[in-house]
Amino acid sequence: MRRYSQITIAIHWLTALLVVIAWFTAEGGRHARADPPYLHFTLGLAVLLLVVPRLLARWLGAAPRVEDPQSRWMDLAARAGHTVLYLFLIALPLSGWYAASRLGIQISFLGLDLPALAAPVQGAPGLIAD
Ligand code: HEM
Repeated sequence: MRRYSQITIAIHWLTALLVVIAWFTAEGGRHARADPPYLHFTLGLAVLLLVVPRLLARWLGAAPRVEDPQSRWMDLAARAGHTVLYLFLIALPLSGWYAASRLGIQISFLGLDLPALAAPVQGAPGLIAD
């Protein structure tokens, strides 16, 4: 294949848009506890959900090969860069979910109540949440 499929391209740009809007709808610290930004949670969890078809497509080989890799190191660097971006796409929403759990906020996604990832605490939610 020479190009990513239309669906993969759509997932890509939807993810980018969701990350940006999730960023701007974030509310930190005491605000989050007193007045949880539910839109932020939904958008962030959608990012996490969209990683699944994205990774599946990649593992099933639905990604074009680099036609003329300039060097082995360049190719490796590109792969490492992609891997790190995937890890962030997973770790960031998960750390948000964890933070919400520590703050004692019930998280739901599209009407489905999700389990807490950690026990709630009274004070600051801690280093990972920060
Ligand atoms: C790509 C997805 C996400 C991005 C870009 C993102 C971004 C951010 C940012 C920038 C903050 C800091 C806001 C501030 O201090 O003013 C924040 C805080 C927070 N986010 Fe997210 N977030 C994402 C996903 C999520 C998800 C999925 C959840 C929950 C299910 C979540 C829950 C929270 C909570 C509870 C806080 C407050 C943490 C604290 O202050 O202790 N986030 N997020």
